[in-house]
Order: sequence, then structure tokens, then C-alpha cells
Amino acid sequence: MDGNGRWAESKGLPRVAGHKQGAETFRKIAYYCRDIGLDYLTVYAFSTENWKRDKLEVNAILRLLEDYLEEAAEKMSQEGIRLKAIGDLDPLSKRAKALIAKTEVLSAGLSGFQVNLCVNYGGRGELVRAAKLSSETGRDVADCLDTAGIPDPDLLIRAGGEKRLSNFLLWQCAYTELYFTDKFWPDFTDADVDEAIAEFNCRSRRFGGL
Ligand code: IPE
Ligand code: MG
Repeated sequence: MDGNGRWAESKGLPRVAGHKQGAETFRKIAYYCRDIGLDYLTVYAFSTENWKRDKLEVNAILRLLEDYLEEAAEKMSQEGIRLKAIGDLDPLSKRAKALIAKTEVLSAGLSGFQVNLCVNYGGRGELVRAAKLSSETGRDVADCLDTAGIPDPDLLIRAGGEKRLSNFLLWQCAYTELYFTDKFWPDFTDADVDEAIAEFNCRSRRFGGL
């Protein structure tokens, strides 16, 4: 979900206004993905590198996330959306951790569409944690990742014009189809999801075979 800051700056607004609008876009897109029958939506909400930003911006992003978790905890059973947080959750606030625990308990009683929220997530850090756990337990690396049990993504959409992974799901995206759009995330619409899926449907996936 990239381009929140530039979206705001292009309108003469503070960057935080972009994060607020980006959070609204996320809500809308999550419902849309559920409605068209997807099984999973995984979003990169906050990276292990995002702590480098100005404290005010970091706090604003984490606050928006907590607000979303709070709202989700109230509405998820009626909306039929399961939630899972992915990343190193230890450094998060007490409130965030309590809300994550609450939404995960509620999710356990639901089935169907699942949103994975990557929070304080970095692919390299996740791999280091997983390798350690794997060597201690003898379990496969994939089963020691934060995403254990979740299928690898079929399609990755990056908004905001940059063409890189930025430490997102490095292991899981080995055979993921990549889709880049210049649109800033706050401007992303249901039609943009359709367009990305239409392109995905034209790709030939061989997974190294013929
Ligand atoms: C993405 O938007 C949101 C987060 C990283 C949390 P950015 O904040 O990276 O927006 P730009 O890239 O500066 O426009
Ligand atoms: Mg960015």
C-alpha cells in the first residue's frame, strides 16, 4: 500500500492525511476482495524499516492500525472477515497486542476470507526467526514463518510507482506474479483490483516447469 505520503503532498496535505485516506482505501479494498471471492488479502501496513520515520508519522500510522483492529474486533463476525497479524509483534503497544489477540480469537470461530496484516514486518527478519525456529524444532522453514499454513501469494500488487519488493514476503513471493501501478494507494479502486486480476489471468505460470 505505497504512495500515501506522496498522495497527501500532491494535495498540499500533511503526510498523515495520506495514511488516513490509505486506511479508508484498505477497508474498501478488503470488502471488495471478500466480495469477489478471494481467499486471502495480505497487506503491508508497517515495515521493520518504517521506524526510521519521524515519530509523529510512525505514531499516526500505528494509531490508525489500532483503530482498524478495534473496529474489526467489533464487526468481524458480522462481516465474515478473519484477521491475522504477521510480523514481529513484540515492540507494538499493549493496546495493539491486546486487539490483535482479540481479533485472532474471534477469527478462530470464523471461516472464509482472511486478511493478513503485516505489521512491524520485514522479510529478512522473518526468515532469520524462522531459520532459528526450524533448527531448534526440525520443522520445515515454511512452517516456521509467520505465514505458516497460509498459501503463497498468487499476485502481488504494488501501488505508488516503485518497482521493488522492499523486504515484503521474500520467501513467499518466489513464484508470485508481480503487478506494479503508478497509482498512489489512496486512489486505488475496485476497478484497479479487477485490472490487476485481468492481467494476472493472462500470465503463464510455469513454476520453473514447461
Ligand atoms: C505507504 O505510503 C504507507 C506506509 C509505508 C506505512 P508511504 O508513506 O510510503 O508513502 P510515500 O511512498 O512516501 O508516498
Ligand atoms: Mg513509500
